[in-house]
Amino acid sequence: MLHTFSTADELYAHAAEAVVAAGNAALAQRGRFVIALAGGSTPRGLYRCLSAPPLAARLDWSRAEIFFGDERTVGPDDPDSNYRMAREALLDPLGLSPAKVHRMLGERDPLTAATEYEQQVAACFDIATTDEPPEFDLILLGMGDDGHTASLFPHTQALAERSRWVVANEVPQHATTRITMTYPLINNARQVMFLVAGASKAQALASVLRGPPNLAEFPSQGISPSGGQLDWFLDSAAASQLS
Ligand code: 6PG
Repeated sequence: MLHTFSTADELYAHAAEAVVAAGNAALAQRGRFVIALAGGSTPRGLYRCLSAPPLAARLDWSRAEIFFGDERTVGPDDPDSNYRMAREALLDPLGLSPAKVHRMLGERDPLTAATEYEQQVAACFDIATTDEPPEFDLILLGMGDDGHTASLFPHTQALAERSRWVVANEVPQHATTRITMTYPLINNARQVMFLVAGASKAQALASVLRGPPNLAEFPSQGISPSGGQLDWFLDSAAASQLS
């Protein structure tokens, strides 16, 4: 479902309400809220809404398990770290226990870090990494102006992954390797929320949502939760080519 708002601030406010609603539903039904945070810069505004009054008091974050959809191969204090952005905008302001925050170890060898992260996810759900992917209550995603999401970039190997939950993905177009959740794990979530803002995303968004199927070129097309809910939170600038 598409939710389009005039400004990014309105997008953040409404998306924050949706996250709180998803969290309280998870707490009511399962006693905890297992969420994967998005990286990049767009979610910062959402995280600030969630960690400030009045919304901060509307969800018991002490019962949440916080994961990440992807991470750059940098340390936790690096300016490019997705964890650092979330720590500053959400985790520290909420005073979350480190035991509840499951960081991808970007400073480690990415292959090792990806395997270790799968084990963290499996432990959280008390299953084995060889089992079917677990069901996150909510996975937050952004989208790049090339149509990538998480670190599932166009024409990269991770797009073909059909069993692993988390992999190291070489991204030649950025001369780097990333750690990323895969389609099997993301598409098993109960709910996935995309946050897309800014005119620079408009063309890619139109291709992803209105163009012919071309997952290799527009990886965000591959996000389709099998039994879950998919919501796109957009500002009018990003949605400007959808009509
Ligand atoms: C990352 C993110 C990535 C991000 C998009 C959009 O590590 O960069 O996981 O998928 O969501 O690149 O980034 P912006 O929000 O900064 O435009």
